[in-house]
Amino acid sequence: MTVFTGKNVVVGVCGSIAAFKVAGWVSTLTKMEALVDVAMTPAAERFVTPLTFASLSGRKVYSAMFDGAADGSMAHIDLGREADIFVVAPATADIIAKLAHGMADTLVTTVALVARCPKLLFPAMNVQMFASLPVQENLKKLRESGWTVVAPASGSMACGEVGKGRLVEWQDAQEYLAAALSRQDLAGMRVVVTAGPTREAIDPARFLSNRSSGKMGYALATAAARRGAVVMLISGPSSLPAPPLVTLKRVETAREMHDAVMAESAHAGVIIKAAAVSDYRPENIAPHKVKKENIETEMRLVQNPDILFALGEKKPKGQILVGFAAESRNLEAEGRRKLTKKNLDLICVNDISASDAGFESETNRILLLDRDGGEERLPLISKLETADRILDRVVALRCTP
Ligand code: PMT
Repeated sequence: MTVFTGKNVVVGVCGSIAAFKVAGWVSTLTKMEALVDVAMTPAAERFVTPLTFASLSGRKVYSAMFDGAADGSMAHIDLGREADIFVVAPATADIIAKLAHGMADTLVTTVALVARCPKLLFPAMNVQMFASLPVQENLKKLRESGWTVVAPASGSMACGEVGKGRLVEWQDAQEYLAAALSRQDLAGMRVVVTAGPTREAIDPARFLSNRSSGKMGYALATAAARRGAVVMLISGPSSLPAPPLVTLKRVETAREMHDAVMAESAHAGVIIKAAAVSDYRPENIAPHKVKKENIETEMRLVQNPDILFALGEKKPKGQILVGFAAESRNLEAEGRRKLTKKNLDLICVNDISASDAGFESETNRILLLDRDGGEERLPLISKLETADRILDRVVALRCTP
């Protein structure tokens, strides 16, 4: 189950070389169980055939204004009326001008006038065209009338120029679609999430760390941003790409994570500590790589700050503090102990003895324990679904004084 499952997504495709990329979007949305209807402008059909979109969506593709008129149906009304979300991509300078001025000369512009759902526009065009005054003024108009305009990406263009004008990649686009389809119950809320491991250097080549991939924390940041939160993700070393719509601060050590979290904590409405912070670090860091014959078999360690404990000690009124616990036995008792000791509102206990949960896995199975004695066992679900379930609890806790 995804945020797209069962949703009616209407995609208006326009005449740009980037139209072929939107074929990939339609294919992915369909795989994510959305019902995708494609409406094409006549110019779009010169770049990609309707058959391509029909094959990928498994549904009829609309192009002519009077498609279906013979059987009494009205495509321009029906598509606009039934859409949960209307996406125009790639949006050319021409369609942007037409939409800004309320023209109704193609199926895409007509559907736009009928649709009352969230409307998203993904411009793609030559760099100079995009920067031109008329296009910028038309985009401003569209923003003012409720459209979400997603700025194009920078890079090299089919026309040979380099700059801002490329259609954004699906990885970014999908977050805007998902946000438009998600309930905005964290709108404007400042949420700080920590993710990944920390690394504690031994010498320039070696470090102490753990198996955290960052997946759980990145999923929480993504889910919170989709629900309208202003998200700061503070991440230890991770190979995951920066989630769109999220501010990412990369750190390496526990002390760097401590400083970054503390700098954000006073203004945060919610802090979620999914990071696996190293409890200890080597007392001394060798300035040069230690030769193996010189490595000591015993290493002196010193304790790192417990960031969560420090947050719990000075938690402002109304702030929701969420911890994680990675446990392989006595899950509930250990979870309750940490919840109380660190003055948390909620703790998410991972059973790290299972291969399908906890470190590195795509899925998680979490026991949620809250400050009021409440307990909820989440089933084995994706980390993104787990993140949403945790955020549901956060929203509920915010409503209970
Ligand atoms: O990143 P993934 O591969 O997706 O894996 C996810 C995860 C297993 C890392 C994550 O779900 C998780 O359980 N994170 C917490 C792991 C952990 O460090 O647990 P802990 O029981 O040692 O720590 C308890 C809490 O105190 C945690 O919220 C931790 O962030 C925090 N802590 C711990 C030590 C420290 N010095 N400072 C802290 O803030």
